[in-house]
Amino acid sequence: MGVAIARYMRMFQSLDPAWFYLHIACQLLAYIIGVAGWATGMKLGSQSQGVRHTSHRNIGIVLFSFATLQILCALFLRPKKDHKYRVYWNFCHHGVGYMIAVLGIFNVFKGLDILDPEKKWRVAYIAVLVGIVLLLEAITWVIVLKRKYNNSTKPSDGDNGV
Ligand code: HEM
Repeated sequence: MGVAIARYMRMFQSLDPAWFYLHIACQLLAYIIGVAGWATGMKLGSQSQGVRHTSHRNIGIVLFSFATLQILCALFLRPKKDHKYRVYWNFCHHGVGYMIAVLGIFNVFKGLDILDPEKKWRVAYIAVLVGIVLLLEAITWVIVLKRKYNNSTKPSDGDNGV
């Protein structure tokens, strides 16, 4: 949700800076819930002698590390919007952010492999995720293309051949 807020709300000028505060609130809350889940997983893991879910566990540790890095860099090392290094910060923040999102979703499937619920739960999870992403992308692209079309049909100043 935090990523979706940054990706889809930011394009509306009227939602600035609301998107920014919502993005921070969502990501901080997600981080707290994520750390609680990670700590619970580590505790359960240490209590289940002889049971090892190595990849789910290792991906969880990688996710926790990158999420901590992402939050700290975003809160304390974010250059101002017009700073010459901001473009590099954006590049890292977007890259690490999407990596966390993709790896997080992948690890949900690893967790589902462990629980082994009925197939319908995996299908439901995929359907809801894909459905939301497709809908929001479609709306965004319609708006972007409309804006482009309106700009290109506006008469421009000083380009009348005189
Ligand atoms: C684990 C936590 C976080 C994750 C996973 C994350 C992820 C992301 C992603 C994927 C984007 C790009 C969305 C897009 O435009 O496609 C983004 C944008 C942004 N995020 Fe975060 N974020 C996190 C925490 C934060 C925090 C704590 C702050 C501020 C204190 C922050 C500030 C921003 C800003 C300013 C942008 C827009 C950058 C630009 O100008 O393009 N983020 N975030």
